[in-house]
Amino acid sequence: MAAKAKTVWYCSSCGNESPKWMGRCPACGEWNTMVEAPSATGKSSSPSRLIAVAPERKPRQLKDIDYSNEQRVSLGLAEVDRLLGGGIVPGSLVLIGGEPGIGKSTLSLQIPLHCKGLRTLYVTGEESAKQVKMRAQRLGGDDSDCLIFCETEVGAIIGEAASIQPDLMIVDSVQTMYAEGVESTAGSVSQIKEVAASLLRFAKESGVPVVLIGHITKDGFIAGPKILEHIVDVVLQFEGENRGSYRILRSIKNRFGSTSEIAVFEMTGTGLREVANPSEMLIPIHDQGLSGTAIASMLDGTRPLLFEVQALVSSAVYGTAQRSATGFDVRRLNMLLAVLEKRAGFRLGSKDVFLNMAGGLKINDPAVDLAVVCAVLSSNFDFPIPADVCFAGEVGLSGEIRPVGQTDRRIIEASRLGFKKIFVSSYSSFEQAPKGIQVVKVPDVPELVKALFK
Ligand code: TYD
Ligand code: MG
Repeated sequence: MAAKAKTVWYCSSCGNESPKWMGRCPACGEWNTMVEAPSATGKSSSPSRLIAVAPERKPRQLKDIDYSNEQRVSLGLAEVDRLLGGGIVPGSLVLIGGEPGIGKSTLSLQIPLHCKGLRTLYVTGEESAKQVKMRAQRLGGDDSDCLIFCETEVGAIIGEAASIQPDLMIVDSVQTMYAEGVESTAGSVSQIKEVAASLLRFAKESGVPVVLIGHITKDGFIAGPKILEHIVDVVLQFEGENRGSYRILRSIKNRFGSTSEIAVFEMTGTGLREVANPSEMLIPIHDQGLSGTAIASMLDGTRPLLFEVQALVSSAVYGTAQRSATGFDVRRLNMLLAVLEKRAGFRLGSKDVFLNMAGGLKINDPAVDLAVVCAVLSSNFDFPIPADVCFAGEVGLSGEIRPVGQTDRRIIEASRLGFKKIFVSSYSSFEQAPKGIQVVKVPDVPELVKALFK
């Protein structure tokens, strides 16, 4: 019976494998996502191939394990090193994901160019050696210790890497690679799984850190998809509005460091530039506040970040009011507008509301609610909020302002950047605020309005 099963079915959303077709994936609940793929002759489905560490033959006492020689390798880009938790760990597999054109190849080529002496094997399946050379020149030079290898068969790549023993290997991109013996096209789920598993095994066994590049589709999935996230040690995701020049690299998984940290880059004519202090870039430089803007404090991992929230409220031209939000959940915007209407009596039902987060940021920290509410009211009444005021608080359904995590650090960061006043929830607990900044505690939206727009 089992010999008959020449093909298997994969969920194209989560990578779940099934011997037969199903309308709905039992693992992730998505409909119509099962695709048929030739079975990898039992290879890739064998769990022993997805090793997370170099195999050891015998168990050891915890106390006998020495980690002091766990040396991280700097990639020459301070912000990337910080995201990784202080450099790349030897033998780790790091996935850099992002939409096409966002700058993955640029960033990964900048690593060997910036880090003199780092012997790098740059494997490309997307571009010719000439194209890579042209890009290197654009990025300001090619006098680095970098080997370019145009190859797409993972066995050949690993063979070459094993004999060269580079300090770092970069593989651009997983979707273009294939493994001999897996009978499906490059980019299919079974190929991606096999390629990633092979590279992981190579990394663990040789100690060479591997950076793997993967495309993410518009709806945010790493094409090929969740399965890759499970295999690799670290996932760094590139985000950004394509129109803007700012790019955010976010760590969404890290076996060797913290997650949800971000690094900000600016795409320039000569590659990506690290923005060491993103708050300063995201805050506008005007002495007086403009109506419709409010400064929010967002937490990125462990670091507070201040940025501008912009709102435009105008009378609806057509019958129904439009609501649109860039970088912010539009359902949450609708909820906040409903709270303003119901709990504070502002009639916004017939108004168009547009919301924008400066710098192409995508926000999911609830602490930004307060600034959203203030930006909307400020635009509605054409009442500028002073430029030295900022906000950190979550707004609840009954109009109450709820405390948010790490209020202390947010206050310190605001003070460091020269803000004179920060609005927080009455229920926040924090230590003594630094001198020079006034912390205004507000319990609910009506009180906030009184304190701000009186
Ligand atoms: P790229 O790194 O090729 O994206 P990905 O590998 O994620 O698909 O980046 C492509 C974009 O970056 C392209 O639109 C051109 C732009 N770019 C610059 O603006 N400046 C530069 O120095 C480079 C190399 C690219
Ligand atoms: Mg590319």
